[in-house]
Amino acid sequence: MTDSTPLGRVLLIVGGGIAAYKALELTRLLRKAGVGVRPILTKSGAEFVTALSLAALSEDKVYSDLFSLTDEAEMGHIELSRSADLVVVAPATADLIAKAANGLAGDLASTTLLATDKPVLMAPAMNVRMWLHPATQRNLATLKADGVLFVGPDEGAMACGEFGPGRLAEPPVIFEAIMAALEGPAARSQKGGPLAGKHALVTAGPTFEPIDPVRGITNRSSGRQGYAIAGALARLGARVTLVSGPVSLPTPPGVDRVDVETARDMLAACQAALPADVGVFVAAVADWRIDEVFGVKLKKDKGGPPALTFVENPDILATLSASGPKRPKLVIGFAAETNDVEAHARAKLARKGCDWIIANDVTEPGVMGGDENAVLLISKDKTERWTRAAKDSVAHDLAQRIAESLS
Ligand code: CTP
Repeated sequence: MTDSTPLGRVLLIVGGGIAAYKALELTRLLRKAGVGVRPILTKSGAEFVTALSLAALSEDKVYSDLFSLTDEAEMGHIELSRSADLVVVAPATADLIAKAANGLAGDLASTTLLATDKPVLMAPAMNVRMWLHPATQRNLATLKADGVLFVGPDEGAMACGEFGPGRLAEPPVIFEAIMAALEGPAARSQKGGPLAGKHALVTAGPTFEPIDPVRGITNRSSGRQGYAIAGALARLGARVTLVSGPVSLPTPPGVDRVDVETARDMLAACQAALPADVGVFVAAVADWRIDEVFGVKLKKDKGGPPALTFVENPDILATLSASGPKRPKLVIGFAAETNDVEAHARAKLARKGCDWIIANDVTEPGVMGGDENAVLLISKDKTERWTRAAKDSVAHDLAQRIAESLS
């Protein structure tokens, strides 16, 4: 699975179940389309399909053992988890879904899902009662909130004699979902897209300001809204640089991600990414950092609690709004407020010198760290009130507005 796969590379985890045979057809479709496939066959998957069939169809080595000395010597399991553009689980059994949702890592497949930094697409297949069980539905909700993509399951007669949702989606349908997830910005630019040829810079997540080598100051930002915006901009054809604080989200397809910890590193990464046509500053940047970071771990037996002196961090949004010839044409800030939302956000627009502020009331239940957002779009001359919607849908609408503004 090397350079001869310009359309992308997939790490295909084949779970157990009668539907596992469809993974062979899926592998054939992917290879025919020029997509690289590197299979991981679980122990229960191997009860239904053979490693030999998968190896022949994928034209690659099949991995199955977390503790294989030869595999580890050739490619460690961490490296394996990152060796593709997309991780696909088909069939995704109730067991694999539960392990992934809970961060278990007792075998190669679950370790890979925990260690990967690539997008994950799951095609579930299981008995209808298992699918409908609250535990499975809880696990699905967790994985969806983590950004995992799903295709299927279908509804219909099942091998176990029951009827309902739980059948693995058909291979051509999974194939289409994989191609959509793999579609990079280059492919989208060739196709056009309203933001083709534009560069978008997005910040997301919290920052982490160290106190000593093991402690630091951070906040509860999940990064979800910023990641959703980066993904939506990429879907409209933009080249996207996402400068991200520490979060546990997969990189949206087609987005270039730069990981940082502190506000100062975030600013430096943003400046290095310029020029950009649009800057969307969603990160919850710590306003303060510790003046002098302790070089060794603070001990509590050293005469009482330490005195920490804070200094102000650079304001990334304000700095880039004022960056002269390198200023992005459109600069957008976010404002999380708890009261007088519009007045505070309008003051912030003037203070930071940006073009739009997307303001939200974080006291609304389910907004901070949740899936939904209710925002105001504030520009110099008007205020728009958007109805409460999923963060993905807010991201999509904002990306459309950015495209209109830059056209
Ligand atoms: N921001 C930034 N750099 C900072 C602080 C904030 O880029 N050091 C950006 C955020 O990404 C967001 C906007 O500024 O787009 C507003 O963030 P917010 O924390 O609401 O603003 P503050 O300047 O911290 O104002 P206050 O805490 O007084 O409400």
